[in-house]
Amino acid sequence: MLYDLVLDNCKIHPLKGNYYLGIEEGKIKNISRQPLKADTHIDIEENLILPGLIDAHVHFRDPGLTYKEDFKSGSQAAAHGGFTSILDMPNTIPPTNTAKNFQEKIDVASKKSIVDFGLHAGVDNLEEIEKISTLNPASFKLFMDLVDDHFLVQVFEKLSRIAPKPLLTLHAENKDLIEHYREKLQAENKKEPQDYCLVRPAIAEEMAVAQALSLSHHYQHPTHICHLSSDRSLQLINYMQENGCPVSSEITPHHLFLDSNDYKKWGNIAKTNPPLRSPWVKIPFSKLDKIDIIATDHAPHTLEEKEKGLWEASPGIPNLETVLSLLLTQFHKKNINLEQIKSLLCENPARIFNLKNKGFIKKGMDADIVVVDLKLEGAFKVDDFYTKAPYTPFSGWKYQGGAIMTISQGKVIMEEGQVFKNKGHYIYPL
Ligand code: DOR
Ligand code: ZN
Ligand code: ZN
Repeated sequence: MLYDLVLDNCKIHPLKGNYYLGIEEGKIKNISRQPLKADTHIDIEENLILPGLIDAHVHFRDPGLTYKEDFKSGSQAAAHGGFTSILDMPNTIPPTNTAKNFQEKIDVASKKSIVDFGLHAGVDNLEEIEKISTLNPASFKLFMDLVDDHFLVQVFEKLSRIAPKPLLTLHAENKDLIEHYREKLQAENKKEPQDYCLVRPAIAEEMAVAQALSLSHHYQHPTHICHLSSDRSLQLINYMQENGCPVSSEITPHHLFLDSNDYKKWGNIAKTNPPLRSPWVKIPFSKLDKIDIIATDHAPHTLEEKEKGLWEASPGIPNLETVLSLLLTQFHKKNINLEQIKSLLCENPARIFNLKNKGFIKKGMDADIVVVDLKLEGAFKVDDFYTKAPYTPFSGWKYQGGAIMTISQGKVIMEEGQVFKNKGHYIYPL
C-alpha cells in the first residue's frame, strides 16, 4: 500500500516506541510499528502527536465585526495554537439566530477558514429553531444574562421536542442580579477594574447554573455550561452529573490561570464575562479532573475597546495561541498529565459536540494532528500571534512545550509558527 502521506517516528502517548501513521484521502488509515510507504513522508523526529485540538467556544466576529477578528485571522490563530476544529459563537452581526443568517455564516466561513469549523446557533425566535436545526448547528446557544426566565423555559421545552435533541449551550449568569448590582455600583460611582467582580458576582453564576441544572434535569435535555468561574458552580454541576443530569462543563484558560488580583496589573484587559474570581472562589487547578472540557472563549477586541473605563470596556480575552503551551507547562510541573490534556481539548469536546471523525488518533478518523515539542521554550508575545487582538494577559509568561506542526485532514497548515493556506470544512454533530 502506498499512502498519500506517512508521518514517521511519532510518539503516541501512552504507547512506548515509535509509530508510523499512514494517511490516505485526509483520513488515518494505518497506525503501525513498522515503516510505511508513501508519496510524501514527514519525519516527526520522535515528538509527541496529539489529536488536533478542538475549541468548542470561539468568537471570530465574522460577519459584522471583522475589524476585531475574521474567519481568516481567527482560524490562523487556531492553527498556530494547535487547533484543527473550532465552534464559533452566534453573537456576530447579524447574529446566527435565523436560518438565513446561519447559512450566510457557513458561506463566509467556508471561504475564509483554514481549520474545520462548526457554528453555534443563536436563539431569539422560537419559530426559527426548527429551520436552523436542518442546518446542523453545533448547539443552540443562549446568554442567560440577556434573556428572561420564561424564555429560557420555552427554549428547553421547544428543543426537548426535537429529535435527536439538539445540545443547548448556556452562558450562565443571572440577568436580574447583574442588573441589580450594575445599578447599585454605578450609583456608588465604582470605577476600578476589580469592581467588575462585584457587578457580576459569583452568586449570579451559581444561581443561573442551578436554574440550568434544574431545567436540564426536568427535560432530560443535554446542556453544556460555558466558562465556569466559581467552584460552587462546579460542585452543583458535579452533584447533578452524579444524579443523571445530562450536563457538561467548560472552563477557559483565563478562569483557570488568572484570578481577580490580575485586574491590578491588567486593568480592563482582564475584563471578561463572567469575571475573574478571587483565589478562594475560583476553581482550583487541582479540580480540572472534575471538568469536561477546556474551551478558550477566544473573544478578541481592539486595544481601544479594552482601554475604556470599567463600564464601557469590552469584555473578552483571546486565548487560542496560549492554551496548549500554558497546559504543557503545567505538565512539566506535574500538575496535569497528557491524558488529561487530551481529554479536555480533544476527546471530550468531540464526544459532547458529537464530532464523530474528530478528537482521536484512530484508524478511520480525520487525519487531524498536532505535533507537540515538549522541550519548546519561550515567553508569550502578542507580536507572535495571528489573532487581530493586540493583547493578552499572559504576555511575558514563560512556557515549556508547544505546537510545532498542525495537520488538518492530512494537510500541514502550520509549521514552526508559520501558517499556510487551506480550505476548512463545515463540521456538525453526526
Ligand atoms: O467576556 C465575554 N466576551 N463573555 C461573553 O459572554 C461574550 C464575549 C464576547 O463576545 O466578547
Ligand atoms: Zn459567555
Ligand atoms: Zn464566549
